[in-house]
Amino acid sequence: MTPNRYDRRRQDVGNIVALEHVNVWVPDQRLATIFWIMGMGFTRDPYLMVGIENMWVNIGQQQFHLPTGTPQVLRGTVGLVVPDLGELTERLEAVRGPLAGTRFAYEVEGKTVTVTCPWGNRLRCYAPSPEFGDMVLGLPYVEFPVATGDAAGVARFYETLMGAPATVGDDGAGVAARVRVGGVQSLVFRETTQPLPAYDGHHIAMYIADFSGPYRRLLERGLITRDTSEYEWRLQSIVDPDDGRLLFEIEHEVRSLTNPLYLRPLVNRNPAQRQPTYQRGRDAFVPRMG
Ligand SMILES: [Fe+2]
Repeated sequence: MTPNRYDRRRQDVGNIVALEHVNVWVPDQRLATIFWIMGMGFTRDPYLMVGIENMWVNIGQQQFHLPTGTPQVLRGTVGLVVPDLGELTERLEAVRGPLAGTRFAYEVEGKTVTVTCPWGNRLRCYAPSPEFGDMVLGLPYVEFPVATGDAAGVARFYETLMGAPATVGDDGAGVAARVRVGGVQSLVFRETTQPLPAYDGHHIAMYIADFSGPYRRLLERGLITRDTSEYEWRLQSIVDPDDGRLLFEIEHEVRSLTNPLYLRPLVNRNPAQRQPTYQRGRDAFVPRMG
């Protein structure tokens, strides 16, 4: 046996095991369907939220939740991995007409496609690559803006209060705190000199292994905002644990690994399947297909 052959720390995950969904309200489920299902090529969850009051959109093992309401816009960018960027832009081109008059737009920028949803949410789409492990369809990160100088405090918040490893550094696009989530996901807080838009109540949802430790630490600081159920609590304020200063607001729906929804299999379709060119047995999305 050769000891120390591998850097075992590379596989350390920390307390946040999975980032599961981003929740933004949408005012019009018809336009949301055109954008998310037809344009982006994702799959409406067939089992839960199947009416017009909400839509869950499956993206690999992650989701967007889209309750009907006053539109919300995430401050920042949601990273997405899609199997084929060329097929994505073909689909987006095809929904230009039905989405005319909304904020829908897309742009090819180097090896990514930046997409704006009909209400202004920004998505950055990537082809599968080693940087995202074996993710072929999914949501690898959510990136938020923070004021210059605040990234280090955000990293301290996640390390100290949430038990999640976080690093701060310049990744070529500026200084950012990167919080490790599971194997290949992350939460990114990028420093900016631009003014931060007001927070409108959108949220992110995650699963954590040590469910009670962060709860206890946040409760002591008065930072638990909701005791939703046996398996879920929420926090909204990210503060510097050193001085309590508020750095950013984003509601975290925090779930335990005993939550009945944990590791729920999500149905994903093959968006290339068409009636005129139908291929038997190819309805379901299969990773590495083609
Ligand atoms: Fe949620």
